[in-house]
Amino acid sequence: MNNSFVSSASSRREFLKASGTVLGASALAGVNLPHVHAAGSDQISVALVGCGGRGGGAAANAMSQSGPPKLVAMADVFQYRLDGAFNSLKNKFKDQVDVPDKRKFIGFDAYKGAIDSLKKGDVAIFTTPLAFRWVHFKYAIEKGINVFMEKPVTADGPTSRRMLELNKLAKAKNLKVGVGLMSRHKKCLQQLHARIHQDNEIGEVNLLRGYRMQGLLGSAFSERYPGKDKGLPGNPSELMWQISRFHSFLWASGGGYSDFNIHHIDHLCWLKSPPGKELWPVKAQGVGGRTSRISPDGKPYVDQNFDSYAVEYTFEDGAKMYMNGRTMLGAVPMYHSFVHGTKGMAQAAKSGDCNGPSSTFKGQTMSRENQLWTSDAKMADDPYFTEWQVLTEAIRNDKPHNEVDRGVMSSLVTSLGRYAAHTGQEVTLDEMLNHTHEFAPDADKLTFDSPAPVQADANGLYPVPEPGKKTKREY
Ligand SMILES: NC(=O)c1ccc[n+]([C@@H]2O[C@H](COP(=O)([O-])OP(=O)(O)OC[C@H]3O[C@@H](n4cnc5c(N)ncnc54)[C@H](O)[C@@H]3O)[C@@H](O)[C@H]2O)c1
Repeated sequence: MNNSFVSSASSRREFLKASGTVLGASALAGVNLPHVHAAGSDQISVALVGCGGRGGGAAANAMSQSGPPKLVAMADVFQYRLDGAFNSLKNKFKDQVDVPDKRKFIGFDAYKGAIDSLKKGDVAIFTTPLAFRWVHFKYAIEKGINVFMEKPVTADGPTSRRMLELNKLAKAKNLKVGVGLMSRHKKCLQQLHARIHQDNEIGEVNLLRGYRMQGLLGSAFSERYPGKDKGLPGNPSELMWQISRFHSFLWASGGGYSDFNIHHIDHLCWLKSPPGKELWPVKAQGVGGRTSRISPDGKPYVDQNFDSYAVEYTFEDGAKMYMNGRTMLGAVPMYHSFVHGTKGMAQAAKSGDCNGPSSTFKGQTMSRENQLWTSDAKMADDPYFTEWQVLTEAIRNDKPHNEVDRGVMSSLVTSLGRYAAHTGQEVTLDEMLNHTHEFAPDADKLTFDSPAPVQADANGLYPVPEPGKKTKREY
């Protein structure tokens, strides 16, 4: 293990500082100190495909496991992103980063070079925008390589069906596949799950609520594409600009609703489900709109997102799940999740996607007198680290580990809510799964010269959802 990385909290802070400047703010997500250093000697190598903020974080999580794993190949569509991630990771992980220039790959087929650099038992990390998930997964399966892929994994019906089919092959090959829905690895939520389902602490779950209401998030708000040679990093074509601003475009990410809200949707569906079962809502209806569409300096935002969403999901037993998403300046910020039952209620995520402490209460009021349990506030577990621990242990001990089916279902349920709000229709999960609109059918054929999958009009505006008017497709 790289001792300079393990050593102290201050070195961790330095790494975060360094990676934050190069990899962006989301590099901070999921970097942790290793607290276990097992005797395991099997060398796992990893290859990073998508060297942005989360990619840097996931590679750091991988290299912080016992063994320790090495990073041996990197791939991206932008040279400057790969270089930035390489420099940050090399700076902290030293010899654990063994990526000579011949194993740095740039382009839309760069993933092949990175995956081909691995051997059986190794792991490919997929942290590009989701549009490329099925493309990369397909190749990893062909090559018999284990995978860690970030959420969401799909944004529409056709790719959801494709991923479920692909995963049958991955399971047949006994590949281990982690999906970055890290809430499920968060200890306070695991404890809450047991309290709800084994201890029956809040009774029958009949209502779940998630809130992700913040300011302008990620790249969800875009002003017009300025054109090439306008000083943007990487000097992107319109296609490359859309990729680098993926939260703005439904084909690339499923938009802000999918990318930001999936964590609450995923853990709330899990908290509704008894052990060993995965319950998903059967239908959804919702509202949403675009009211904050002018930038603070007076320019129109041209992306495809709504800035507010309120979606009502219904489970088979009639239980409801509400997901409220808002990306708007000046409105009240809320970022929590709740579970209600016939006897009491719970706060699941106290803040963020899955941060504790989680608590249970008798009745429906969260007061000190009503509190039944709260998880240890000092429990500083990091689910981004744990999800890798589970994956690497499964590889070393050849235990079954495949999170893809539930990752696809969480992505599909998220898309269902987005679709319902975007079209103004009540939609069933079946209809969403069997829908024919594929946002980026040629994601596997894109080249640097390809036209962007969604085109702007003469004013530089992209097609947007119009509930009640466009009812069969989102745009
Ligand atoms: N689990 C979490 O908490 C969490 C946190 C942040 C991001 N994410 C997810 O991780 C993914 C990446 O997000 P990010 O914030 O790191 O974005 P990012 O833009 O910082 O990084 C994405 C990287 O992928 C590269 N890329 C794009 N298309 C590519 C292709 N076809 N082949 C190779 N490289 C390609 C980009 O150039 C960029 O370097 C998203 O799906 C996002 O939802 C998850």
